[in-house]
Amino acid sequence: MKGLILSGGLGTRLLPFTLALPKQLIPVANKPVLWYILDAFKKIGIKEIGVVVGENKEVIATKMNEVLHQDLKLQFIVQEKPLGLAHAVKTAAPFLHNSDFVMILGDNLFDESLEEALKIFSEEKADALLFLTPVRDPRRYGIAEVKEGQIISLEEKPTDPRSNYAVMGIYFFKNSIFEAIERTTASRRGELEITDAIQELINAGRKVVPYIYPGWWMDVGRPEDVLKANRLLLNLLTPDSSCLVAPTAMVSGSTLKGPLIIGENCTIVDSVIGPYTSVGNGSSIKGSSVENSVLFEKVTIQGFKGTIMDSIIGQDTAIYEDSSGKNIKKFFLGAGSTLTF
Ligand code: DAU
Repeated sequence: MKGLILSGGLGTRLLPFTLALPKQLIPVANKPVLWYILDAFKKIGIKEIGVVVGENKEVIATKMNEVLHQDLKLQFIVQEKPLGLAHAVKTAAPFLHNSDFVMILGDNLFDESLEEALKIFSEEKADALLFLTPVRDPRRYGIAEVKEGQIISLEEKPTDPRSNYAVMGIYFFKNSIFEAIERTTASRRGELEITDAIQELINAGRKVVPYIYPGWWMDVGRPEDVLKANRLLLNLLTPDSSCLVAPTAMVSGSTLKGPLIIGENCTIVDSVIGPYTSVGNGSSIKGSSVENSVLFEKVTIQGFKGTIMDSIIGQDTAIYEDSSGKNIKKFFLGAGSTLTF
């Protein structure tokens, strides 16, 4: 069994952060989303992992190789254009060869292991297994109709949904998916959809089974998702609402309110941090308050009056006090920034 992560795409809903960092590398509780997926693969013993990348290849490959997942064999597969999830699978065919595989969308975060699903996939001798979860707004997802333990129909972002079971973004496949992809044509949004390819499998009488997911899951596609995922993960990491402070961080004269996480080589002086705050490696906060926020790496905040709340602050960003006494506010804001007073 091999692993496949889809990390192409443009991440436009997470601008401006995705100008500097692909969305799959956005840190949640101080760890890029992709790292949680690698952990899930490791837990079920999958070591050979293909990562489909697009224009973001260099930055993803560099960052993943930097962290040296030594026990894993990673292969980066370039998809020239984001022409759809089924197109991405097709591009990865030489890597997948004749192996069964687990595919996970690179912006998916989830808390449970893949173990139970793996067991069902092999016991049922299914051609595909799809993780499903009930959602409030089925129009935003691929939607599955389930009958007598099998998936009988699928539709991508339906206007008139037949159920509220969303396809999450974790799929187990046998090789039969490739023939199904060959029979699939581009959708309304011009993409080769994996949902349509799986519908082709069903049409050919193949067995497609659901795995109704018992844990929490989200796709981190929008800024509010980053904050929500951060809160959920901090709750999981610190069930007692404690503070995770890296040993190399220096904290003085400050109040820390858990759950929170403070990364390596941070300096926190005369500040109030938390709850629900992640401070990335190498950040420095002096004389300021930060609550329910995600700070990427190397963020500097000094003497900010008031509380920084519900905020996402990108890497190498600085917020300084105005020392002129004239209450001047000075900004260097990148494309797509939001500032609320
Ligand atoms: O999040 C769950 C949903 O994900 C499912 O319910 C849908 O059935 C499924 O089609 C997918 O829908 P999205 O519209 O959310 O997919 P998105 O375009 O955001 O792409 C998901 C991931 O796949 C993302 O990490 C980027 C990557 N990707 C996407 C495309 C279109 C690729 O690697 N190549 C591509 O061509």
